Amino acid sequence: MQESPGGHHPTVKIGKLGPSLCEEISSDPCAIVIFGASGDLTKRKLLPALFCLFRNKLLSKGFFILGLARTDISEESFRTDMEKAVKKAGNFDHVAWEEFGKRLHYFPTDYSEGSLRKAREYMDDKALTHSTGRNRILYLSTPPSVYSSIIESIASSGLASEDGGWTRIVIEKPYGRDLESARALEKTVEKHFREEQVFRIDHYLGKDTVQNIMMFRFANSIFEPIWNRHFIDHVQITASESLGIEKRAGYYEEAGVLRDMFQNHMLQVLSFVGMEPPSVYKSEMVRDERVKVFRALRPLDRESLRDNLVLGQYVEGEVNGKSARGYREEDGVNRRSAVSTFAAMKLFIDNWRWQGVPFYLRSGKRLKSRFTQVTIQFRAVPHQMFSGIFEEEIGPNAVIIRIQPDERIQLKFHAKNPGSRMCLRDVVMDFGYTEGYEGLVLDAYERVLMDCMIGDKMLFIRSDAMEMSWEWLSPALDYSEERGQGAPELCLYRAGSYGPVEAERFIGRDGRKWVNYER
Ligand code: BG6
Repeated sequence: MQESPGGHHPTVKIGKLGPSLCEEISSDPCAIVIFGASGDLTKRKLLPALFCLFRNKLLSKGFFILGLARTDISEESFRTDMEKAVKKAGNFDHVAWEEFGKRLHYFPTDYSEGSLRKAREYMDDKALTHSTGRNRILYLSTPPSVYSSIIESIASSGLASEDGGWTRIVIEKPYGRDLESARALEKTVEKHFREEQVFRIDHYLGKDTVQNIMMFRFANSIFEPIWNRHFIDHVQITASESLGIEKRAGYYEEAGVLRDMFQNHMLQVLSFVGMEPPSVYKSEMVRDERVKVFRALRPLDRESLRDNLVLGQYVEGEVNGKSARGYREEDGVNRRSAVSTFAAMKLFIDNWRWQGVPFYLRSGKRLKSRFTQVTIQFRAVPHQMFSGIFEEEIGPNAVIIRIQPDERIQLKFHAKNPGSRMCLRDVVMDFGYTEGYEGLVLDAYERVLMDCMIGDKMLFIRSDAMEMSWEWLSPALDYSEERGQGAPELCLYRAGSYGPVEAERFIGRDGRKWVNYER
């Protein structure tokens, strides 16, 4: 008998790691100007990431951070706030903070042209103190609704100019809320910056394990020959979150899961799985290949969406042993909100490699556990020669790329049980991404900040990719927002479940099952 496919799988450990082949990195001196420095992102991600880079000597000696925000506080209290935030994030170090704290500056501003002119004078003065020269990164971490007006003030106050150094602008997601608004923002950006100066962030691209999809595929010769329609039955990409919307009701009510996760993170992961190998590992070439995947996405229309999109919203339940409110009961959410917090979707990439291979994408909030993974499910054996011996059919092989947490790559296959009886069991060949590695591992924000400082754009979204992803998703956004007769059903699911049963039925109709997190 075969062991049940859902049961515990014996694991085959990967042996000792070989020597690493690494590229050297070093960054230019520069000023990092954070717009919206009193906000949550600065505290939770940006400052802890910059401190970690500093501690690990990955920043140039010439650097300083200038926080800009409307809040009228002194430089001293800004430093104290940031120290608390970095402590909260963990890995604090007093000695390193002494040095780092000296490079933290603050300037209150209403982002008008006049006020940014003064901020610029302040920055020029600090550039002399810290010998950063004229290089600067302008990091927009404000509410997106003010991006355009801030960019206009940046330009008119002279902050965008490149006088004797480089100026780069980093733009956080959401980049617009639909194709039209994204294009409008793009117009403002293009008016004042060249494309090489613009760094559109999708922090999923900074995740090591997302980048590793490329290494796994193209630095090995054994996977690529079978990475296509001849051998692959289907692909699943899941980003499952156990958290709810936290304190972001205002944003989430406007966004919903399709804007929040699909337009960016899910499609970016898809591009790594689906891309062709570039001839050289260089930013623009890699980005060209990823864009080609978007170009080849089969267009969505209302009819196909009826069958290929499931939308859901969580109701009260229990997550990790704690009771959890339903979405409509969350603070700041409309009690009758029809916003989806879960979506499952089937799509196709119309090209030679992928013709006919379904890609199932699924993401939701308040699900059973937090995991992001890609499953490549191979075709079943062409002929069941063991059918007279085993009662069940032999299931397919799979490669599972776990992006987070517990980052690993697993190859699932079948083997004979030791002993005289003919028994098959499912086994897993398992590679733990950081096991056996003692060097520094950068998190997503550390990586993207580092890349921005060294000017490497590989892990940022190019303007054409950004537009294409909005364009492709637009019919799904329109459809998901239809109300009244003919509108899509909003399938309710309990907080702490794997999502609505309709999502199980949806993939089940194709004779397939979702692959969930398994240790
Ligand atoms: C953000 C979304 O971009 O990504 C959040 O706005 C989501 O809603 C988050 O929770 C997920 O990121 P991560 O790195 O925790 O998977």
